[in-house]
Amino acid sequence: MIGNSVWIQFFFIIFLIIFHNLQASTFAFDEDRLIRIKFKVHIINGLSSNEYPLIIHCYSNDDDLGEHTLWMNNEFKFRFGNHVWRLTHFWCVMRCGLNKKTIDVFRSGVETKTCRRTGNCFWSAREEGFYFSNDNQSWVKRYDWF
Ligand SMILES: *[C@@H]1O[C@H](CO)[C@@H](O)[C@H](O)[C@H]1NC(C)=O
Repeated sequence: MIGNSVWIQFFFIIFLIIFHNLQASTFAFDEDRLIRIKFKVHIINGLSSNEYPLIIHCYSNDDDLGEHTLWMNNEFKFRFGNHVWRLTHFWCVMRCGLNKKTIDVFRSGVETKTCRRTGNCFWSAREEGFYFSNDNQSWVKRYDWF
């Protein structure tokens, strides 16, 4: 027969271990997301002609942002509060003429970091592919159309 106080100590130690681990992983995991909560994503038609428009349709697990037709230099933008306790994921189906590509435009752990400084993610669809920027000035190619 083990005394009550031994059981209490035992559960107290287990509780401390679990609580410590939960705290450590929660803070490590959410560190970047706790700092910035609001983000804005811009999708820009960066094509060099109006032969075909860029037709986009963006979604998240909770939202259907509808289909939008963008002509040269037009942009579609949306803002949202990043989930602190859940992963955020937005993706867009992009069509131009016969080309079609689905790209991730915002993912927890990726764009939370790359867009954190400005709170903005810019995606420019061009003939050569999809370019990313967080300041609308310096662009990096991220995806091809194919
Ligand atoms: C991004 O840059 C373009 C070209 O300089 C400008 O026309 C547009 O207004 C800018 N958009 C934002 C949201 O800053």
